[in-house]
Amino acid sequence: MSIKKRVLTGITTSGTPHLGNLAGAVLPAIQASKDNSTSSFLFLADYHSLIKNLDPKLTHSSSLEIAACWLACGLNPKKVTFYRQSDIQHIMELTWILSCLTAKGLLNRAHAYKDAVSKNQESKNKDLDKGITMGLFNYPILMAADILMFNADIVPVGQDQQQHLEMTREIARRFNHHYQDLFTIPNAQINKVSGVIPGLDGNKMSKSYNNVIPVFESKDKLRKSIMKIQTNSLKPGDPKKTEGCTIFKIFQSFADEQEQENLKIDYSKGIAWGEAKERLFELLLDRLDPYRQEYKRIIKDKGEIENILQEGASKAHEISSPLMLKIREAVGIKSF
Ligand code: ADP
Ligand code: TRP
Repeated sequence: MSIKKRVLTGITTSGTPHLGNLAGAVLPAIQASKDNSTSSFLFLADYHSLIKNLDPKLTHSSSLEIAACWLACGLNPKKVTFYRQSDIQHIMELTWILSCLTAKGLLNRAHAYKDAVSKNQESKNKDLDKGITMGLFNYPILMAADILMFNADIVPVGQDQQQHLEMTREIARRFNHHYQDLFTIPNAQINKVSGVIPGLDGNKMSKSYNNVIPVFESKDKLRKSIMKIQTNSLKPGDPKKTEGCTIFKIFQSFADEQEQENLKIDYSKGIAWGEAKERLFELLLDRLDPYRQEYKRIIKDKGEIENILQEGASKAHEISSPLMLKIREAVGIKSF
């Protein structure tokens, strides 16, 4: 009997699903889940949300929206293990065990922490750790626990997450070497086609930067968001470059090759920015329409979403419970 490769990915429940989440995580993960040679673990990273915000309403509403997003985009809960991180307490337990064998120096090098320190440096704060919580600092360990708890082989994520995967591999190796060979060393699968989807200001589209284009808002709001994309001062008629252009980069992530080629030609002919945005809006409406319709229907039935997640948690426990027993034994935590 061949053992299926495990593919695992999660989304932090700290905001409304945006185009970056869709192109960088949700759609590729759902596509991969259709492959019968793999088994998929897709989850709501709700404890990760507390790292980014302390607003209980936001964490809660975002969990529902992101659950509905996965389902609307075609996740089949019968086929994949779809769960809420907080329903699997073993993940928190593993986080502690991993914390006790992870070098602090490794976490000092984490991008999220280093960025926060640089911001303090830039604003000339004497305390370089000002406003930085232990949650933010320990974030890569929680993510390692998410992945190792299910012995995932492949972790599809956006480019920005590559470093966390490298850290996970290092932490897993350390455990395997020091205690017992219990963890699979996971591989990141970076969605190369879309890479990092830029947001309204040209930086990575992210809830944290407040520059997102939400997927499931009304048509009007979607259009308004797109019209807010920042462009340079080139006038209609001026030839424009597609490289480094936010509108084009987003367009590219959802368009087929012919559509991309057509827009490229129009750029060289000097398409007006307003017109390019209009083209992006039309394309997104068309590509996202089935998901947007489904989302409207699903989000109304919270009870059904809860049932699906509870079933997912039971399936997840079938894997996390026996592995947790082995982990506890390996570290010397067991009954007499
Ligand atoms: P955010 O940056 O908005 O907080 P998350 O960290 O919750 O988003 O990301 C969830 C998933 O979506 C991750 O796999 C992440 O890499 C992917 N993702 C988020 N933003 C982008 C983006 N702008 N481009 C590509 N993928 C992204
Ligand atoms: N940290 C990831 C992000 O911000 C989300 C996430 C949490 C995740 N745990 C994970 C992704 C485990 C993959 C695997 O994008």
